[in-house]
Amino acid sequence: MIKLSIMFKCPHCNAQLTQNEHTWVCLNKHSFDISKQGYTNLFVSNSTRTLGDHPDMIKARHMFLEAGHYAFLRDALIEIFDQLKLNYCVDLGCGEGYYTNALAKSQTQWIGLDLSKAALKIASKSSSVKYFCASIAETPLLDKRMDGALCIFAPYNIDEVYRIVKADGYFVTVNPGPRHLYGLKEALYEEVRLNPSNTIDDPRFHLTETETLNVTIQLNNSEMIQNLLTMTPYRFKTSPVALERLKLNDTLETELSFIIELYQIH
Ligand SMILES: C[S@@+](CC[C@H](N)C(=O)[O-])C[C@H]1O[C@@H](n2cnc3c(N)ncnc32)[C@H](O)[C@@H]1O
Repeated sequence: MIKLSIMFKCPHCNAQLTQNEHTWVCLNKHSFDISKQGYTNLFVSNSTRTLGDHPDMIKARHMFLEAGHYAFLRDALIEIFDQLKLNYCVDLGCGEGYYTNALAKSQTQWIGLDLSKAALKIASKSSSVKYFCASIAETPLLDKRMDGALCIFAPYNIDEVYRIVKADGYFVTVNPGPRHLYGLKEALYEEVRLNPSNTIDDPRFHLTETETLNVTIQLNNSEMIQNLLTMTPYRFKTSPVALERLKLNDTLETELSFIIELYQIH
C-alpha cells in the first residue's frame, strides 16, 4: 500500500508534504502545524472572510446527527464502502465527521477536507481520520492518489474529483431526493418545490449504482426542529414571520430522502 505521506501537496508551492510529529512540511520548508485537536490548516488565502458553514449551523447539525436521525444514511454508506474495500478515500466537505469517523472504523484510511474549523474541531477529536482545513475546489491532494471520494451535500468540483481519484476509482455522491425535508418546507413555505436531480452527466463518470433511501421522521421537541432548520440553507431563505411561526411548533413530521450514487471513474 502507498504511504499516506505521499498523498498531499503544499498549498504554496505544490511540492509533496511529509508529516513530522507535529507538522506537515514540504521540500521548500513551508510548514503547517497540526492543531491540538488533530486537524491541519492547509487553507491559504488572502481573504479574512470566515469560510465554510457558520459555527451555528455546525452546532445544530452536530446535535441533529448525534440524535441519530440520519443513522440510516450512515449505515448505507458503511455497507457500500465495505463492499468496495478501498485503501485511501477522501470525504469532500466532511463537516463534523459524522460519516467519516463511522466509515473509518474499517481498513480504509480516510481523509476529511472542509473549510469550517468549527466542524473540524469536532471531527478530529480522537479520530484516525486525517482532517485538513482546505477547499474542495482546490484540494491539497496530489494527482490520482485516492481510490475513492465521497461527497455528501457539499459543493464538489467535478474536475478536481477527476484529478485526485485514480483511474477506475470510485466517487460516491449523496444528494437530496425530490421530497427531502418536504414536511419542514411545508411548515415554512406556501408553495413547496421538489428538489432537482443532481446526477452527474460527464463521460468520465460512469454511474454504476443508485440507492434511494426514504424515511419519515417525527420530531417531538422544538429544539430538534430548530436544529434541523438551522443546519439547512432554509434558515437564510425564509421570511422572519415563517421562522417565528416554526418556533411555536413542538412537533414536526417530515420526509427524509437521500439519493446515493456510485460512479466509477474512467
Ligand atoms: C451541508 S454540509 C455537509 C457536511 C457533511 N458532508 C455532512 O453531510 O454532515 C456542507 C459542508 O461543506 C463545507 N464546504 C462548503 N464549501 C466548501 C469548500 N469550498 N471547501 C471545503 N468545504 C466546503 C461546509 O463547511 C460544510 O461543512
